[in-house]
Amino acid sequence: MLKVINVVGARPNFMKVAPIVEAMKRREREFTPLVVHTGQHYDAAMSDTFFSDLDLPQPDVYLGVGSASHAAQTAAVMERFEPVLIEEKPDWVLVVGDVNSTLACALVCVKLGVKVAHVEAGLRSRDRTMPEEINRLLTDQIADLLFTPSADANDNLLAEGISGERIRLVGNVMIDSLYKHLERSRQSRIKDALDLNDKRFAVLTLHRPSNVDNPLTFGRILEALEKISAELPIVFPVHPRTRKTIAQHGFDERVAQIEGLRLIDPLGYLDFLSLYSGARLVLTDSGGIQEETSVLGIPCLTLRENTERPITVTMGTNKIVGTDVEKIVDAAFAALAETAKPTVRIPLWDGHTAERILAALG
Ligand code: UD1
Repeated sequence: MLKVINVVGARPNFMKVAPIVEAMKRREREFTPLVVHTGQHYDAAMSDTFFSDLDLPQPDVYLGVGSASHAAQTAAVMERFEPVLIEEKPDWVLVVGDVNSTLACALVCVKLGVKVAHVEAGLRSRDRTMPEEINRLLTDQIADLLFTPSADANDNLLAEGISGERIRLVGNVMIDSLYKHLERSRQSRIKDALDLNDKRFAVLTLHRPSNVDNPLTFGRILEALEKISAELPIVFPVHPRTRKTIAQHGFDERVAQIEGLRLIDPLGYLDFLSLYSGARLVLTDSGGIQEETSVLGIPCLTLRENTERPITVTMGTNKIVGTDVEKIVDAAFAALAETAKPTVRIPLWDGHTAERILAALG
């Protein structure tokens, strides 16, 4: 019997941990899963909704760290996670993705000699100004077992001198959640509530500090949105960080004047899946959305200069367009002129990644 602590902290973690915990519950004679929520994200719309949408059991332990500077947040997770680990003495700790909670918990594990596995290992943007890149690099250096989503991630890890014995190519666990919930998401009434017809709207998400904390970059993105939304209405579920910076930089009025741009509160997993799966085009700076749109064959423009998920460009629907006004607008109109292409199956993004993770742990 293996006791496994599954760590969640921020919004993009929930859809990665849910299938793993579910698979462990199915094999209850072999696994005892516990869920520890660090509380990095705490708003109902950024956290609670995902537990019910994804059938993720309520956390066994809630650390309640909340928002703070990177140092303070990382330190708070470490301080509060350490006694849990000492008390529970798990056989394994599973950390996912690249948020501050991921690195913080992995560090506590190695210092206490508890085995830790990193799910979604090996992704690299090669942009060390991204906080997530530092979290990824360091977590992969210290974790005992590295579960990679695609072969490029294995190459990255090997190039960093990490032994192949620690690496397992298992596929993309977030896609397990996508396949499981796609059908159910069709019951969502979000498109009716917003009066939207399939393929007649675009979806936008923005939350990277490099885009939303910098008024010059954010201003350029707004200029592009002004042009695109004149042709195709854009629905924009606004992340709390972005909501704050729009106000701080005095962009409220300009944003309100863009007629085709509709700001809404952040959505839960099922409503958001229902929304973007009906979109003609997605514009984003998220990592996970590049993957989800690729699997569903929805054209995606990534408003960043790089991606840690190159397979979404080579095999999926993703285009890296940066934050230059003309590049974004040209790419958007080019995407609208294209006819739909058949979707390509990315190897091991098949809905069975959680089972492969369990097989490697057991
Ligand atoms: C974090 C992750 C990022 C991930 C993103 C998804 C790190 C370094 N960053 O960024 O990788 O893509 O989550 O959302 O771990 N806030 C709320 N309510 C919440 C959470 C946050 O209002 O429930 C506000 C706070 O003002 C906070 C700000 O959003 O200061 C940013 O939150 P934080 O967790 O620091 O980073 P994210 O930008 O969400």
